[in-house]
Order: sequence, then C-alpha cells, then structure tokens
Amino acid sequence: MTPSAIIVIGSGLAGLTTTSQLLTHRIPVLLLERFPKPGGNSIKASSGINGAPTRFQPLPSLDSIATFQTDTINSAGGPYISATGAEKARRERLIATLTERSAEGIYWLTDEVGVELSRVARLGGHSVARTHRGSGKKTPGYDIVSTLLGRVSADELFRMETERRVTRILKEEGQEGGRVVGVEYAVVKEGNQTVVEQAYGPVVVASGGFAGDARGLLAQYRPDLAGIPSTNEEREGTQPLLQEIGAAVVDMEQVQVHPTGFVEGGDGEAMVKILAAEALRGEGGILVLGDGRRFVNELETREKVTGEVMERAEKLPTKARQWDVKLVLDEGAAAALESHLGFYMWKGLIRKTTVGELGEEMAALEGTLREYVDVVSGKKKDEFGRESFGNWTITEVKPESVVYVGKVTPVVHFTMGGVVINELSQVLDAQGRPIPGLWAAGEITGGLHGQNRLGGSSLLECVVFGRIAGDEAAAFYKGLAPSAQ
Ligand SMILES: Cc1cc2nc3c(=O)[nH]c(=O)nc-3n(C[C@H](O)[C@H](O)[C@H](O)COP(=O)(O)OP(=O)(O)OC[C@H]3O[C@@H](n4cnc5c(N)ncnc54)[C@H](O)[C@@H]3O)c2cc1C
Ligand SMILES: *[C@@H]1O[C@H](CO)[C@@H](O)[C@H](O)[C@H]1NC(C)=O
Ligand SMILES: *[C@@H]1O[C@H](CO)[C@@H](O)[C@H](O)[C@H]1NC(C)=O
Repeated sequence: MTPSAIIVIGSGLAGLTTTSQLLTHRIPVLLLERFPKPGGNSIKASSGINGAPTRFQPLPSLDSIATFQTDTINSAGGPYISATGAEKARRERLIATLTERSAEGIYWLTDEVGVELSRVARLGGHSVARTHRGSGKKTPGYDIVSTLLGRVSADELFRMETERRVTRILKEEGQEGGRVVGVEYAVVKEGNQTVVEQAYGPVVVASGGFAGDARGLLAQYRPDLAGIPSTNEEREGTQPLLQEIGAAVVDMEQVQVHPTGFVEGGDGEAMVKILAAEALRGEGGILVLGDGRRFVNELETREKVTGEVMERAEKLPTKARQWDVKLVLDEGAAAALESHLGFYMWKGLIRKTTVGELGEEMAALEGTLREYVDVVSGKKKDEFGRESFGNWTITEVKPESVVYVGKVTPVVHFTMGGVVINELSQVLDAQGRPIPGLWAAGEITGGLHGQNRLGGSSLLECVVFGRIAGDEAAAFYKGLAPSAQ
C-alpha cells in the first residue's frame, strides 16, 4: 500500500519541528494529537533553549561545542559513566549530535522560522550563559510553538487532527523483523462513543515524556516519588506502545525532580504546580530556608539542588510532599525577568516586599543578604560555590530594600528515560537494530541526558532530533513512494 502521508504523533515542539522539516521536503504530514489543543508541554517552557556558540551569547563569549559537551556529560553522570561498548558509543553520539547541531538549531528558529531569541541566561550546571529566550513578553515555549504552528498550518500538505489518541503502532511482520506501516487511534464521537480508526504511513513518534503519568509509568519505575507534586498535567506515557512492537527503552528510572515549583496560596495542596522558571535563579535569584538562610549554590544541577532541599529544608505540614523553601530576587534580577515576574505576581506566586517586612518570618534573611552582597561584589567567596550572579544589583542591604519572594518546592518535571534512538532518530530494538519506518524525537526518547537533563536542553533535543527525524523520514518516504515526489 502506498501511504498518503507520514504520520507524526504529538504536536509539541518535537512533532512540530519534524512536521516543518517534512514539509520543507514537500512530504504530506498527518499530525495526530490526543488533546483538543496542540502544543504539549513544550508550550509551557519558560526558561529557554540552549545553543553553543551563537551570536546571541554575551561577549566575550567563552562558549564552544566542546564546553557544552563537557557540561552535558558531567550532568549525565552515572548512566553515562557506567555505560560500555555499543551503549556508550550511542550515548556519546547522541550528545555529540545535540551539541554540534545546537547553534544551527537556534539559527533555524531565528533566521528561518522567525522567532526572536536574543536574551541568554546561565542556568544550573552550565559553565556559561547559553540558554536563549526572547526579550519580549512571550515565554520561549509559547513563542516557538505558536510561530511554528502558524508556519506549518499555512501549508496545504499539512493536516492536523486533534482528539486522536494513538493506541497502537501497526507493524507488518516480514524479513529483518518487519516494518512500521501505520497507527491505530481512538476518537470520541458524538454520544461519547469511542471509535478506533487507522492511518497508514511511516511513523514519527513525538508524544513526550511521562512525568504526568503518576498512576502509570511513574508508579511503576519510581514509586518513591509518590506524593510529590508535578509541573506536568496528567497524561499517560507512550513508551509501552513502542515496546509492544519491539522498541528498547533505557534509563526509565531517571526522573528529574525540578527544585522549584510554586507552592500556591490557599492550602498549597495542588498536585499540578506552576514552575518557577530556572531563569529566575539564573538571572540572580537565590534560595533560602524557612528562616532566611541560604543553603546551596543555586546554579548547581537540578538534581543536586533538589537533593539539598530535601536534606536541609523542613517538610511542610501538607498532604502533598513539600518542603519549606523561598526564592528571593532583588530588583535587578526582577527587572531582567520583567514579563515572567508580571505573570507570577498576577497569579499571587511572588510578592514584592521589603527586607524589613520579611524580618519577622525570616529572621536570618537580612544577614544572609548582607553576606551575599559581599559575595557578589567579590569581597568574599561564596561558601556554596556560586560564581555567577545574573543581574543581581543591590549593593547595600537596608530594612527598606525591595525584594521579591515566593514559596517553592521540588516538583516532578521531566523524564530522562525513554525509547532508545540512534543519532539518526531511528528507534532501535533490543539488539540495537533500527525498526524500519519508525523514528522518535523529543522527551519520548531516552539516554541522551543520563541522570540529569540540563535546563534548556529539552527544547534543543526537540529541534535537533526533530529536524533529523524529518530529514530521515522524508528520504525513506521518497524511496517508498517514488510517485509521491
Ligand atoms: C512547565 C515546564 C517548563 C519547561 N521549561 C523548559 C525550558 O525552559 N527549556 C527546556 O528546554 N525545556 C523545558 N521544559 C521541558 C520541555 O518543555 C519538554 O520536555 C519538551 O517540550 C517536550 O517536547 P515534546 O515535543 O517531546 O513533548 P510535548 O511537548 O509534551 O508534546 C507531546 C504531545 O504528544 C501528545 N500525545 C501524547 N500521547 C499521545 C497519544 N497517545 N496520541 C496522540 N498524541 C499524544 C501530547 O498530548 C502532547 O501534545 C519544561 C517543561 C515544563 C512542564
Ligand atoms: C459526554 O461526556 C461529557 C463529559 O464527560 C458529558 O458532559 C456529556 O453529558 C456526555 N454526553 C453524552 C451524550 O453522553
Ligand atoms: C538589571 O537591573 C537594573 C537595575 O534594577 C535594571 O535597570 C536593568 O534593566 C537590568 N538589566 C537587564 C538586562 O534586565
């Protein structure tokens, strides 16, 4: 059967990037999305996307592909260090591909797609500023996703169908293990009747991670995280659909707990939280315990900062598992994140106050800030090892000094594990052989980030491996259906 289109599952950044690339090759695309609205978790991304080196990084830019690679490897930790043989080589090639093609990915977004990404912050685990976002009011995830969606929607070869939940990948058995020929999906029709339909064609899976799958895959792989709130809406993981047809998975127990989700007002019991973007710390914010003492280098990797919070902070008396930590910004850090702050303050997650007013509940805060000012000015070395201070500008701490403060707690955020791919975004089976007709990109895939993903590298993997998946699937389609060229 000649397929009429390539099927892309999921309308987040990985799916939209793949789609855009397929359309560039003039291949028809059928995009299937389970929810009524496109965008996935990608639309929520609030800190930015990595690229090294780019013309947007502050001068003198000390960044290079090699530095980005070293930071990624250091962050990946145990699973990278202990891998051997073909597995080690594959992890190395994924990291090399991500970092070598990062600048090209940023320039694709800015120069071809038309997204502005001129602001660059330094996030945890990065040795320089390399996480790009726009200077305007839109958050990077929303800005990138909506611009890409507008671009692909204008193309006559593009068709998106929402409220289509893919339930099965169809594989034709045959020589060399067979090949993927389509998908089955559930549609809810009038009268709430669920109907199963099929679509035929090569498949690119871009259905995201399972950090919102508390009752399913998270409970299976990380029961110890039960009760910790998440930044992700409830949505089941899709790795099992691929495992059913022979795909291998890796690092499934590697789940990122982000150190800072906002504990909302009210009773604070919400299990889905708004993320306190890492850029808040990158642009100068600090973390303090309930009484106002600092306790960590805020720009350590997420894994390390979360570990310190759980060890050093008091538990909150809530049903949800939460800890008593506050994020504090001075006016300079707040100015650098004006549009974010506007949103968080409107939501009541961060309030503007003074050091004096906070003194009652946080007795140690004034002393902490005095000491910190000496660290920023270079008079003192930071006892926790922080070396970069964003746009922290306050030089003298008085009771009337303005600060911005919000309650934060660790939140389940991202899944590093997923289906095994190679550097061509092909999905591999347990023997390491590509499954013909099947590619995957984005958070559905595993192995690249090891035990800790660096902030900004998820949007980047969607762009880099989504573009590769688009190129590879296009070549396959042309070979499969010469008449369609
Ligand atoms: C609040 C928040 C802030 C973040 N900030 C950043 C940041 O600043 N920088 C960064 O790099 N990363 C950030 N991340 C992580 C990043 O946004 C995601 O990891 C990334 O966008 C994943 O993209 P994706 O395309 O792989 O998946 P998603 O964007 O999640 O898209 C997957 C899509 O597939 C659909 N889908 C799933 N299953 C099915 C199915 N069975 N059938 C049909 N459709 C299906 C989903 O509904 C969804 O629309 C953040 C994440 C969150 C939650
Ligand atoms: C369909 O489901 C929705 C949501 O659960 C419900 O509000 C509605 O009444 C249902 N309609 C029918 C015809 O059963
Ligand atoms: C840094 O802070 C100062 C002082 O509040 C502010 O005027 C300036 O705009 C900030 N810089 C950036 C890049 O936002």
